[in-house]
Amino acid sequence: MTTHRSVMPQEVLEYLRVLSNGTYIDCTLGGAGHTESILTCNGPKGRVLGIDASPDAIVQAQTRLKKYGKRAVLVQGNFRDVVSLATLHGFGQVDGVLYDLGLSMDLLRQSGRGFSFQENEPLDMRFDPKQDLMAMDIVNSWKEKDIADAIFQYGQDQASRRIAKAIVQARRKKRFETTFDLVNVIETILPRRGKFHPATQTFQALRIVVNDELGVLQSSLESLATLLHTGSRIVVITFHSLEDRIVKNVFRQWGKDGFATVLTKKVVPPTREEILANPPSRSAKLRAVEWK
Ligand SMILES: C[S@@+](CC[C@H](N)C(=O)[O-])C[C@H]1O[C@@H](n2cnc3c(N)ncnc32)[C@H](O)[C@@H]1O
Repeated sequence: MTTHRSVMPQEVLEYLRVLSNGTYIDCTLGGAGHTESILTCNGPKGRVLGIDASPDAIVQAQTRLKKYGKRAVLVQGNFRDVVSLATLHGFGQVDGVLYDLGLSMDLLRQSGRGFSFQENEPLDMRFDPKQDLMAMDIVNSWKEKDIADAIFQYGQDQASRRIAKAIVQARRKKRFETTFDLVNVIETILPRRGKFHPATQTFQALRIVVNDELGVLQSSLESLATLLHTGSRIVVITFHSLEDRIVKNVFRQWGKDGFATVLTKKVVPPTREEILANPPSRSAKLRAVEWK
C-alpha cells in the first residue's frame, strides 16, 4: 500500500487537459496516484505509460492499477530514456507527459535505502538499486572540497565547508555505512534549529548527486520533441529551485523558438488548503506547456 499522497492532483489534470482515449506518459509513477487519476479521465481506451526508476514503485503500482488492465503499462527505468522506453512500449506519440519530481513518501519511509535521516539504514539513496554510485561512496571517497561544493550547490547549506571537513575527519576513523553515521557527525557540529534538522540539506544534496537529478531532468525534457504532436501537453512539478530553473529555462526557450506555448506565465503553487492537508506539498511548483 502506498503512503504517498499525490501533489496538486486537480491542477495536474487541468494542465494536462486529459482527453478521452488519450495517451499519456507519467515519468515519475511513484505511488501511481497521478497515473490513476489520468486513467479515470482518459477512458474507455486511453493508455498511460508509467515509468519509475525504483522497482518497489512498479510492484506497488501493478497492484493498484490492476483493474485498468492493458491501459496501464508500467516500466522500471530512468526517465532520461523516456523516448526509447516510450517507443519500445508503443507510445511513439502522446497527448501529454507528466513529471512529479523528487521523493515519494514510500521511498522516504519504506524503501530501506537511506533517504531519511530519521531512519537508520544503509547510506544508499539510489532511486534505482542497480545503479553504481551510492551516497556512502561520495562521503567515503570524494575530496573534501568536492563534498563541500555539492552540499553548497545542491543543499544550499551555508555550513557546507564545516560539514565536509567533519565528514573527512570522521571517515579517517571509520567508514560511513549508515544514515546515522552521517547524522551523528553533522549533529556534533551543528545544533538543531527548532523543527529543522541540520542534516536536511546534506541529505538532499547527496540524493541529487547520486541520482544526477538535474542532469537527467534537463536531458529528458530536451529529448521529448519526437513524442509530441500539436496540442500535446507537458506538466512538471518540482520541489527544488534548481530543478524549477531548468524547467523554466527549457520551457522559455521552446516558447522563443516557436515549439511550444507556455501555459503557466508564473509558476503555479499548491493551494493553502492543500498545504494544510498535505504539508509536504508546500514547496511544489507546477509549470506546463502546450506543444505547437
Ligand atoms: C514524487 S514521486 C511521484 C509520485 C506520483 N506522482 C504519485 O502520484 O504517487 C517521484 C517518483 O519519481 C521517481 N523518480 C525520480 N527520478 C526518476 C528518474 N530519473 N527516472 C525514473 N523515476 C524517477 C522516484 O523513484 C519516485 O518514485
